[in-house]
Amino acid sequence: MKYRTHSCGEIRKADVGAEVRLAGWVDSIRHHGKVGFINLRDRYGITQILVKDDKLLNKIRELGHEWIIGVNGKVLARPKGMENPDLPTGEVDVEANEIEVISRSEIPPFVITDEARAKEELRLKYRYLDLRRHPMQEALIFKSELYQAIREYLHSRSFVNIETPILGRSTPEGARDFLVPSRLHPGKFYSLVQSPQIYKQLLMIAGFDRYYQFARCLRDEDQRKDRQPEHTQLDLELAFIDEESIFELVEGLMKHIFANLLGMELVIPFKRMQYNEALEKYGTEKPDIRYELFLSDVSQIAKKSEFKVFKEAEAIKCVKWKGDLSRKELEELDNVVKGYGLRLSWLKYKEGSFSGPICKFFSAELLKELEVEDKDACSLLFVAGNENRASLALGGVRNWLIEKYLPQRKEYRFIWIIDFPMFERDETTGEIVPSHHTFVMPKNPKQLEDKPESVIGKLYDLVLNGVELGSGSIRVHNRDLQEKIMKIIGFNEEQRERNFGCLLEALEYGAPPHGGIALGLDRLAMTILNKKSIQDVIAFPKTLTGVGLLEGIPSEVDDAQLNEVHIKVKSQNSTEKK
Ligand code: AMO
Repeated sequence: MKYRTHSCGEIRKADVGAEVRLAGWVDSIRHHGKVGFINLRDRYGITQILVKDDKLLNKIRELGHEWIIGVNGKVLARPKGMENPDLPTGEVDVEANEIEVISRSEIPPFVITDEARAKEELRLKYRYLDLRRHPMQEALIFKSELYQAIREYLHSRSFVNIETPILGRSTPEGARDFLVPSRLHPGKFYSLVQSPQIYKQLLMIAGFDRYYQFARCLRDEDQRKDRQPEHTQLDLELAFIDEESIFELVEGLMKHIFANLLGMELVIPFKRMQYNEALEKYGTEKPDIRYELFLSDVSQIAKKSEFKVFKEAEAIKCVKWKGDLSRKELEELDNVVKGYGLRLSWLKYKEGSFSGPICKFFSAELLKELEVEDKDACSLLFVAGNENRASLALGGVRNWLIEKYLPQRKEYRFIWIIDFPMFERDETTGEIVPSHHTFVMPKNPKQLEDKPESVIGKLYDLVLNGVELGSGSIRVHNRDLQEKIMKIIGFNEEQRERNFGCLLEALEYGAPPHGGIALGLDRLAMTILNKKSIQDVIAFPKTLTGVGLLEGIPSEVDDAQLNEVHIKVKSQNSTEKK
């Protein structure tokens, strides 16, 4: 027997008169005395089933939401005025002559509606029900099409899809590794790869020239709304390549995706901005350039005030907000700034005069220098501190204001951020750490020894609407230079060999110049679909604390399993090693 002749999203007016069989979930049931209606749902849509037969009317009284039924019936045109223009199937009904219960359902813990009304925990625990919601289905189907469009584009450009191991070596790559104990080798561990970085470089040395992979990447880091412990990257690497060609390739890819999936013509090439400018103007390395709200450096003026904090600060940055802000809002903004270890100061301007707690520290002439021209009310928000930190804190203020007050601009604004420093100082240890990873080619390698912090990397990020979509670089393809960089980061010979020995050795066997990029596909889907959280585009995500509510993970395992992998768990409240 055929379960269905049509999907629930398929039948149109042209099918009127046809005998059909449908199967799907009961989305809703309405009883109106002598007639009843069932909205029957599947992945493709909803079809309204009309029930007139007395026996069937009795039968449908027993049905519940989310039961699966099979319906035999005849397609009828809906009476004039009864059409539903919101449904593609809205001009027809299927009048049932037979209804079969295929699968019953318990009463679902929440109603399956487009809008997510149930609590997040409940939705994640019953994710298979949450995934029945139309927006979730749409998002995952969009992602599937996204992958297909990417494949098409890359295959037409001679890329080879190669899978690399998930069980890799634990190497310092920024985040913490998830470790996997070895059963066959007591006391030894694999690590789940944070990205295929080393493997893709080895593939270039192997001569594959153009590689791509939809790579699962695993990172044990604190979660955020755009971060998951497992995410998928479109990982790319190319040999005999420069930065320009990578920009061109990725811009072409985005153009292809937007044209094919959204019917939109993207303007390329994308704007480019140096890292320093992004920090100065937007207070972040991933600026949302849809909004023209800029930071300015008012150090020269503010340092002339009598305000001690300003006089002593390295820099004072300011955002001019065209609007009044309440005391409560200013407190909230101060909390944003406190998150960066700094404090917010403010001045208000209204009808030609200034007010605010720090007003008394500014002379009338000095206030004029702040160049407030607005006739309307405006608030001047200041953060004083170390140059970068003050910018970052004010960048947080900028984001807060945009999110709260500016109408969302439904447009896609890509930007390349370029010229990142190769290294930065770890704020807690004071040590030099790579700002991306160890394999980045420096633009000015001569400065590596004397002034490593001034070295710029051949490093680039792709940002869309304030979300970092991807990062990449041209790589070092020479062992001496690679070792020099690793030394600057503080790896001694033993550490270099242990962590990167296979790559260092491979660099000695004819390594071509190469470079690449990895684009976060979950973030790309999230941003294109304008979702608030990355969870909304991942079928089975973890919570912000890394918990899988559906499976109940992480979980304890049997002692026997632990024994097999030679692990003994320390008791929760004991510090003593067992
Ligand atoms: P990076 O670590 O910057 O670079 O990652 C590349 C892109 O992957 C996405 N991403 C994430 N998405 C969701 N959850 C996460 N936890 C997460 N972490 C990263 C982001 C990011 O821009 N091997 C290098 C790339 C290279 O140099 O070619 C790498 O992994 O969108």
